Amino acid sequence: MKKVRKAVLPVAGWGTRFLPATKVMPKEMLAVVDRPVIQYAVEEALAAGIEEFIFVTGRGKQTIENHFDHNFELEHLLREKNRLEELESITRIIPDEGKIFYTRQSQRRGLGHAVLCTREIVGDEPFAVLLPDDIIWSKNKKNTLKGMLDLYEEKGTSVVLTSRVIDENVTRYGIIDPGVNQFEHNAIKVQGFVEKPTLKDAPSNYAIMGRYIFSPRIFDCLEKTKPGAGQEIQLTDAMAKLVKSDGFNAYLLDGEHLDCGDKAGYVKATIYMALQKPHLRDDIIEYIKSLDLTK
Ligand code: G1P
Repeated sequence: MKKVRKAVLPVAGWGTRFLPATKVMPKEMLAVVDRPVIQYAVEEALAAGIEEFIFVTGRGKQTIENHFDHNFELEHLLREKNRLEELESITRIIPDEGKIFYTRQSQRRGLGHAVLCTREIVGDEPFAVLLPDDIIWSKNKKNTLKGMLDLYEEKGTSVVLTSRVIDENVTRYGIIDPGVNQFEHNAIKVQGFVEKPTLKDAPSNYAIMGRYIFSPRIFDCLEKTKPGAGQEIQLTDAMAKLVKSDGFNAYLLDGEHLDCGDKAGYVKATIYMALQKPHLRDDIIEYIKSLDLTK
């Protein structure tokens, strides 16, 4: 079985929900406390052993490329001033040279189409997909993507991350159809997927949480996928095809899912992540307690 070495990060979206902040700045570069949203996904992938990064970008996304590259002047300055902690914070997230690729999705035809754009770069090997809007955080420092990679090796099928959502949120996500299958530890065999169903049509409350491990056969499925929800080529629809031919497992999230895809989620993620920082925590708690929430 081939090792998963590559990760795809789709970052071509317009970020219209965050206008005007995202007029010239990519939404993936909005900071959550001290790092851009996208850095959380890259750090998670690096820690899980991913070696190559493939970004699917679009117009106006150049700052992402600069962020994951050296800034020699700044590094020189920090070294001279002996500010080694800051120096480490900007260099440790840079993948090795020749291990980072950018391809542009010039037509915004959906998430499935964005992944299909990486076919030539990924080649005939399994790969991970991480949606940067979703920050996955585990208090016990367990790496979620690593857990998914272990499950992929154990079961030999593609793997998707899942978590239970409340009824009101079902329409916001891709939803898993587990059929009659039950969870065994943190894994469940999937029978199907539906993208953003109505509550009435939802086969369960288990949502897809923006982390995937795919067999390269997903590309054949994507090629055959017609535009679906929102008139876009949906990754979830291609996954529904792959389930039938290959089987699929879902990995139950043991941690926090912070959805930075809209303003409320972004603010909540910022508060949550600030509370994880020992030097900020007390200050933030004091501030929240001091707020008069009746006004
Ligand atoms: C995408 C996927 C959806 C998944 C979600 C996770 O939707 O299409 O299946 O549940 O990410 O965040 P989007 O958030 O891009 O609308």
